[in-house]
Amino acid sequence: MRSSEATDPDAGPGPVLTVGSTAVIYLLDDERVVRRYREQHDLSREVEIMRHLGAHGFPVPEVFAAHGLDLEMERLHGPTLLQSLAAGETGIPEAGHLLADLHRRLHAVPPPPGERDGVVHLALHPANVILSERHGPVLVDWEVARTGPAALDVAVTAVIIAEVAVDEDDVEYSKAARALLAAFLTAADDDPVPHLAQAVRIRGEDPSLVPGETALVEPAAELVRHFCTL
Ligand SMILES: Nc1ncnc2c1ncn2[C@@H]1O[C@H](COP(=O)(O)OP(=O)(O)O)[C@@H](O)[C@H]1O
Ligand SMILES: [Mg+2]
Repeated sequence: MRSSEATDPDAGPGPVLTVGSTAVIYLLDDERVVRRYREQHDLSREVEIMRHLGAHGFPVPEVFAAHGLDLEMERLHGPTLLQSLAAGETGIPEAGHLLADLHRRLHAVPPPPGERDGVVHLALHPANVILSERHGPVLVDWEVARTGPAALDVAVTAVIIAEVAVDEDDVEYSKAARALLAAFLTAADDDPVPHLAQAVRIRGEDPSLVPGETALVEPAAELVRHFCTL
């Protein structure tokens, strides 16, 4: 459905880099991209969180400007962790460590002014990590980030990986996800089990899930529980 010019990728500020469920990413030039939301959306929380984290040395793209539905930020050069895993450039144990390390660093950042809890990303998975040539691993996609308990963030990551592990459509992919889940849970500091119910609710609200994927969320949480009680 095309309700306005802004929802038409052809009418964007540059070539389309990726089309996501809620936003399209356009290339502006070699240094900048624009994340443009398709629907009315308040960018202020996302921008505040990214700036807060950047100011504390956490690896996020630098925000250059935010106006209307557009978030203009630093363009990162490099594959996502998912692409790197698929290409065999990053091994599964290494990827598990890398994800756990990003959680640790994120949750070590002091809470934003006036907040009790620190920032949680709530979608910290391999497609949201860009292995930047210049900065090392950088975490993108701060749309659903907010403040909350660190272990909830770990629980959401574990459930997302486990969704792939319990999906029997692709056996090889499923096996790799199982191994990544084990590596991540071993490397992570926090116990996700007390937060699994909340993680399931958060995953159920993900607008990018199709009905078949929603059915994987509960079995995924069960798999995480199983791995944590071994
Ligand atoms: N700042 C950036 N620089 C380069 N590529 C980016 C940047 N932000 C996002 N991307 C690419 O676009 C993809 C989608 O971006 P993301 O913010 O995760 O949106 P969504 O998952 O909602 O589609 C990422 O996986 C990454 O490949
Ligand atoms: Mg994403």
